[in-house]
Amino acid sequence: MDNECLENVNRFLVSRRTFIVAAAALAASPGALAAGRRRGNSFDHGVASGDPLHDRVIIWSRVTPKNWERGVTVKWRVARDARMRQVVARGRVETDILRDFTIKVDVTGLEPARTYYYEFSTHGARSPVGRTRTLPVNAQAARLATVSCSNLPAGLFNVYALIARRADLDAVLHLGDYLYEYRNGTFGDGAALGRVPVPDREILSLVDYRQRHAQYKLDADLQAAHRQHPFICVWDDHEFANNTWKDGADNHNPEQGEGDWPARKQAAMRAYFEWMPIRAWVQASEPRIYRQFRFGDLADLLMLDTRAHGRDHQSRAMSVGPDLGYPADDPAANDPARTLLGFDQEDWLARNLWQSHADGVTWRLLGQQVLMAQLSLTRGQSLLNFDVWDGYAPARQRLFDSVRDPRIGNLVVLTGDIHSSWANELTANPWDPATYDPVTGRGVLGVEFATPAVSSPGIADPVEAVRRAERFRSLSPHMKYVELHQRGYVLLDIDRQRVQGEFWHVATVDSPSREETLAAAFVNEAGANRLQPVDAPSPTRRDIEPAT
Ligand SMILES: [Fe+2]
Repeated sequence: MDNECLENVNRFLVSRRTFIVAAAALAASPGALAAGRRRGNSFDHGVASGDPLHDRVIIWSRVTPKNWERGVTVKWRVARDARMRQVVARGRVETDILRDFTIKVDVTGLEPARTYYYEFSTHGARSPVGRTRTLPVNAQAARLATVSCSNLPAGLFNVYALIARRADLDAVLHLGDYLYEYRNGTFGDGAALGRVPVPDREILSLVDYRQRHAQYKLDADLQAAHRQHPFICVWDDHEFANNTWKDGADNHNPEQGEGDWPARKQAAMRAYFEWMPIRAWVQASEPRIYRQFRFGDLADLLMLDTRAHGRDHQSRAMSVGPDLGYPADDPAANDPARTLLGFDQEDWLARNLWQSHADGVTWRLLGQQVLMAQLSLTRGQSLLNFDVWDGYAPARQRLFDSVRDPRIGNLVVLTGDIHSSWANELTANPWDPATYDPVTGRGVLGVEFATPAVSSPGIADPVEAVRRAERFRSLSPHMKYVELHQRGYVLLDIDRQRVQGEFWHVATVDSPSREETLAAAFVNEAGANRLQPVDAPSPTRRDIEPAT
């Protein structure tokens, strides 16, 4: 992933035609006229960093320009200290309307496992100082937070504020639904909180997706989290439209004037690559987001794209509800020709899992979007949601086979999307005593921690949420923890002996709060492949420099 790749993605994302379209749309908007009267450039959208490797990290910001018709030269600096005195790298970069005045630099030549600080400046304007961290070459421990489903009108981003206060994270994994495509009131009403989506309509065009990203990046709590930690992000469906698959989405309706899907998908992808601190990578005709991060020989993190790259159409329109769902023997859900990842990504995943095992790496972490464990209230006779791995059973089995036959152990799946908290043991059939023993863990191929949402609601009624969670638990031996009401995040603490997953829940998303509770924690000991409850949070790490 070098600068040549960055150039490739720019060639993909930028064309003369899109410049004309973007310029015309911006010129027509009242915001552009206001921007034209600005007194100077500024960095209103904060700073961010992401995709750390052992020698490099992406740093990001965005200029709100004084004059949108001209390009802007931005200087950047990276230092060892928060006061920016021990500068280790610096440079300048041009930005303009072609990339919506966003700035992205892949800073190379850094040392492993080190905290760095960075800032941007242009003609008198200076960005906040961001803090980031490179990956280790030799690691005995690592600590990650996982988040998903940050829905601006649905509530305050208290989860991000709490994550910003933690000094001891190596990185934050955002597992998708970083933003939502809806107009106000469709999924969350932000009027009372002053969080009405901009533009207040379903976003369709490049200008729309850019405006929505820009609005989210103005949130102070999101800015704080980005400023303190490198993020490793993957998109889910709402960065495009609800229930995206590779050639469409449930919430994309050309007959209602929403245009071609490929144009919408490309607009959403382009805005994502402009506005997110993700390393650009182009393969074939589209940028890809599945990629690997290595924490020395402690852990390999494989980030997946279960949405936009290769997913076949969901076989049923579906959502998790109180009913019994759909027959588990649904022909499409059991068609081996259908895939969630795309067969090329499946091959990449199997190859990298094997290589990680062959290299003697202790843990394999998958960062991905949708629930992998079987979700049923009839002991597997019917399944509740065919938008998740349940709708692509042979593809899931291929993944299970790729770790079972060579006995690749220590697999930890990190999941978003579902707006609720789950700790699951992963096994081919949790209701078949011949293949799975929930007491001993026989037949377990990995474990799954699904993170609650940052703000999207789960089951709104807390009493009903408890009732349903108890039902899942009583019928699903592989589900060790189910909580369906709270928002929060998962903390993953990793060392040689075990991975500990902790569910941290926030008190509210309706008012500013810095209150959080450790709701549950589970340990998976190396070689054991099973979940065991524990009472105490993992001890604070002291080897990471403090937050700024
Ligand atoms: Fe979501």
